[in-house]
Amino acid sequence: MKALILSGGKGTRLRPLTYTGAKQLVPVANKPILWYGIESIVAAGITDIGIIISPETGEEVKTKTGNGEQFGAKITYILQAKPEGLAHAVKVAQDFLEDSPFIMYLGDNLIQDDLNTFLNNFKNKTLDALILLRTVSNPSAFGVAKIDEKGRVIQLIEKPKEPPSNLALVGVYFFSKTIHEAIANIKPSPRGELEITDAIQYLIEQNKSVEAQTLENWWLDTGKKDDLLEANRIILDTHLKSNIQGEIDSSSQVIGRVEIGERSKIINSTIRGPVTIGKDCYLENSFIGPYTSIADNTTLKEVDLEHSVILQGAKVIDISARIVDSLIGQRANIKESKQRPKALRFLIGDDSEIELL
Ligand code: G1P
Repeated sequence: MKALILSGGKGTRLRPLTYTGAKQLVPVANKPILWYGIESIVAAGITDIGIIISPETGEEVKTKTGNGEQFGAKITYILQAKPEGLAHAVKVAQDFLEDSPFIMYLGDNLIQDDLNTFLNNFKNKTLDALILLRTVSNPSAFGVAKIDEKGRVIQLIEKPKEPPSNLALVGVYFFSKTIHEAIANIKPSPRGELEITDAIQYLIEQNKSVEAQTLENWWLDTGKKDDLLEANRIILDTHLKSNIQGEIDSSSQVIGRVEIGERSKIINSTIRGPVTIGKDCYLENSFIGPYTSIADNTTLKEVDLEHSVILQGAKVIDISARIVDSLIGQRANIKESKQRPKALRFLIGDDSEIELL
């Protein structure tokens, strides 16, 4: 059994962060999203992992993630020259996959369940495909399954305008080698991509053994800001352990589960967990509320912040209002002057969103 993780694509829904980096490397609780997928694949006993990368962000994914040693796996990087669809990515990976059955895992997806729950079902029944479904409130944004009264999949439709159900296709799939034959028989969709949804539909039409399992536990597709904040909240809630490495002065207060990395300094501040703070950060006269992740090398002074993700090297200084539900990019600088009357002066990247509430 092998695994194929898709970490290409343009990440348009996470702009502007994805102008400069891969969406799969955006951190959730200070760890790239992609790494959660690798860890859960390794936990299911699969160590031969291929990662699909794009020309734009492939180098960054490779440099950060490495050859797999840190995960106890062997990683092979496979370049997909253009984002021509998920099924196209499988085609590009054929030399790596050979005739092996495999898990296909979209690098920006996170699921709560152990993969073994599904892997055992897939193996025991020697299925051609096992897909995972989850009820969602906005099915039009996903691949959607129509199932019969016995729970069998009859039809899969990619991003339907009129969804036949609220069951979305989760970005984790289990395939036998027959998927290659299916992919060879499908044509690009109206959006110009070879859709994995169409390949699975082909398997269904050929009476191959395709099963669906419905997830009860959480599933997150972190491609957008609010989903990313939600992933951050859930991971901090379920995974974070207290671990204080940095220095906290005597006028600071740390409450609940909090992680603080090496050489970080907390001066006259209150931190109410769950909160994770990386290495080499400087926090002064600030309040950091629950569900916040602060990456390495960040400076926060006179800031009141909660339910937010702050990326590496950002500086946030003298902000008079509480910052909430925010995603602040690498090396971003936000500073408020104490002078009155007030003026606002911006240098904001393309596709940024600023809300002054
Ligand atoms: C892809 C799939 C879709 C699936 C989704 C899950 O969509 O095409 O069927 O429901 O992943 O994350 P994309 O995120 O590429 O638009």
